[in-house]
Amino acid sequence: MSVESDLRDLAVEIAREAGELARLRRAEGVHLAATKSSIADIVTDADREVEALIRARLREARPDDGFLGEESAPDDGSTGVTWVVDPIDGTVNYAYGIPSYAVSIAAVRGSVVPGEWEALAGVVYAPASGETFHAARGDGAFLGEVRLSVTTETPAGALLATGFGYDPSTHDGDLATVRRVMTMARDLRRAGSAALDLAFVAAGRLDGYFERGLKPWDLAAGALLVAEAGGQVSLIDRSSTRPLLIAGGIQVHDRLRGIVEDES
Ligand code: IPD
Repeated sequence: MSVESDLRDLAVEIAREAGELARLRRAEGVHLAATKSSIADIVTDADREVEALIRARLREARPDDGFLGEESAPDDGSTGVTWVVDPIDGTVNYAYGIPSYAVSIAAVRGSVVPGEWEALAGVVYAPASGETFHAARGDGAFLGEVRLSVTTETPAGALLATGFGYDPSTHDGDLATVRRVMTMARDLRRAGSAALDLAFVAAGRLDGYFERGLKPWDLAAGALLVAEAGGQVSLIDRSSTRPLLIAGGIQVHDRLRGIVEDES
């Protein structure tokens, strides 16, 4: 067993326990705890409770690792490994009772700035479907026991997904990008969980995905899934406040990248 596969196994075990807690709390009824960057950007009691559970389990298993989560204060740790965690990615879906939400847990080495770390392991667990997408660096990406591969052919155009941030002032720009990207699309999805969008690219359920302004915890596990499934992930405009993530099979990734770079 490699370090990476040990980290992956731990992440899978914790993500499943955390996801079951999220599912239970959803069935009991969701309580809004607060809003964050805008009135549309919500956090529920369950987001906080699930993150606390994940953090406690990680502390028991690997007390000296760092932690970067959506809902609590970061901790650098001393081992060089940091856990990047979104307890419920797709919180708005979760609050509305739409089943597209997921627990996302990744272990990364190095800087916790996306694009500068080396992801070692990642899991995206979807409690509503019971699906576990997981990867260890160098070992491939899997859905349960089944090895995943990104799509390579898109004769009818690419099935793409995207997302929009919570700040209404950014919507016009994002819609302008969508308009340009539609020239290569078969159709476009906006399902509401970046972690699942990336897992679906890895699984060949989507040909590509792009979104501006994601946070490290939205993309850490999913980006490793795509790379380990043979795809490509880029973060462009890194110095902007809303870098653009592009993911897909190599052809789709390159076409997407060409279109958005022509924009700037
Ligand atoms: C959000 C989801 C959504 C994406 C937003 C993210 P959250 O994460 O991933 O699909 O469009 O940019 O913030 O807030 O539900 O954890």
